[in-house]
Amino acid sequence: MNICDCINNRRSIRAFTDKVVESDVISQLITLGTKAATGSGNEAWGFAVITDKNEMKRLSDEAKKHLLQSLEKYPYFQQYEDWLKNEKFHIFNNAPCVLLIYGDVNSHWNVYDCTLAAGNIMNAAMEYGLGTCWIGFAEHVCDTEKFKSEYKIPDHYKLVSTLVVGYPKVELDPPSRKPAKVFVKG
Ligand SMILES: Cc1cc2nc3c(=O)[nH]c(=O)nc-3n(C[C@H](O)[C@H](O)[C@H](O)COP(=O)(O)O)c2cc1C
Repeated sequence: MNICDCINNRRSIRAFTDKVVESDVISQLITLGTKAATGSGNEAWGFAVITDKNEMKRLSDEAKKHLLQSLEKYPYFQQYEDWLKNEKFHIFNNAPCVLLIYGDVNSHWNVYDCTLAAGNIMNAAMEYGLGTCWIGFAEHVCDTEKFKSEYKIPDHYKLVSTLVVGYPKVELDPPSRKPAKVFVKG
């Protein structure tokens, strides 16, 4: 797949087959993530992977509970209140793999670095026949002291991106976007 086709066709995938994503493939995606541009060459990223479905379900339940209890702190999640209240809603959409990208806060550029790495991974995943989706709902639950200590993530790393990765159950049409706003002088 050429890179423009890949960019033109990438969609957020929220339905996955049961097929496991091999750890070698995840390692290759992480390596491709690290080929992104990086502010001052700091490479201010760190990665963690969850493949345990029970762990994902526990984290999903915890995230939903936390977000519903503190929705006033998260105005951008208020539109999803019904989803969060729905017992069947799983924030990771039952994906076989969750890939977390943490920024080293000692680098001013960490959020940019991690976001670019996530972009590389989302696009590269398509070459492997994999689908991805960024899961903002996981922002709190995968960035707690408890979670980070379990995964040996140092305190100075903060979660930037959570991606689910898996083999898509469905094929979606290419993304549709509004025409780009282009600002011109005069
Ligand atoms: C920062 C960010 C957070 C997102 N959080 C979620 C999320 O929590 N759950 C979800 O299903 N999709 C999430 N998405 C995916 C968007 O909903 C999706 O990219 C958008 O609807 C456009 O669809 P497309 O990616 O298929 O083109 C997120 C995307 C971004 C960039």
